[in-house]
Amino acid sequence: MEHANITPRDRLIVALDLRAVSAAEAMIARLGDAVTFYKIGYQLAYAGGLPLVRQLVGAGKKVFVDLKLHDIGNTVARGVESVASLGGTFLTVHAYPQTMKAAAEARAGSDLKILAVTVLTSYDDGDLHAAGYRLGVSDLVEARARQAQIFGIDGLVCSPEEASSLRKIVGHKMQLVTPGIRTAGSATGDQKRIMTPARAIAAGADYLVVGRPVLEAADPKAAADGIIAEIMQALA
Ligand code: C5P
Repeated sequence: MEHANITPRDRLIVALDLRAVSAAEAMIARLGDAVTFYKIGYQLAYAGGLPLVRQLVGAGKKVFVDLKLHDIGNTVARGVESVASLGGTFLTVHAYPQTMKAAAEARAGSDLKILAVTVLTSYDDGDLHAAGYRLGVSDLVEARARQAQIFGIDGLVCSPEEASSLRKIVGHKMQLVTPGIRTAGSATGDQKRIMTPARAIAAGADYLVVGRPVLEAADPKAAADGIIAEIMQALA
């Protein structure tokens, strides 16, 4: 197993899936030095959370801006430039060729890295068919991963179960970022395809996105430290 040179702590990305900026700020304060990387998605971004990107970056943290962009190329490019100016580390786009090409070009010269979402994990073959696609999930994931590579996309968001097969396709130049992580004994919630932190790392994930197992823990800081310890062990 080969892993990029990322510290175990930086491999944990805590998803700030919270209703209000005040709740996110309270959670960030509670987590303190334990967490170095946060994800801001639709819920918090559309509740006034985007200024948090700059604040967190100013405090020395990294931020994954999970806005899953998809629009005409020019609009995607301008959006990518705006997110890059906030200081984010990762931004998601849907893995459509025009979108990936525009995003990869627009982030050039900045520190922002583009992650492509191949096929949303809530989609099965039937859902793709209903949306007008001929390919099933696994073929479409593979085709889009190859296209992402061609367009110079920096990484992929994938389920931990897809990590080892995608690693074979994209090699080690692309980062694999996996949600769907559950520590042993924690509630699965609505996640169906889950893995423990250690297994996801062993499967080839570079970064783990974790929401509820940290946010809903009685002691979120201890939960984050526990996950980081597990990541460290898996890398040893
Ligand atoms: O609470 P939980 O650990 O399930 O949160 C996982 C995070 O990863 C959420 O922010 C969710 O939107 C995101 N995500 C996911 N599955 C995907 C893509 C993103 O759970 N396929």
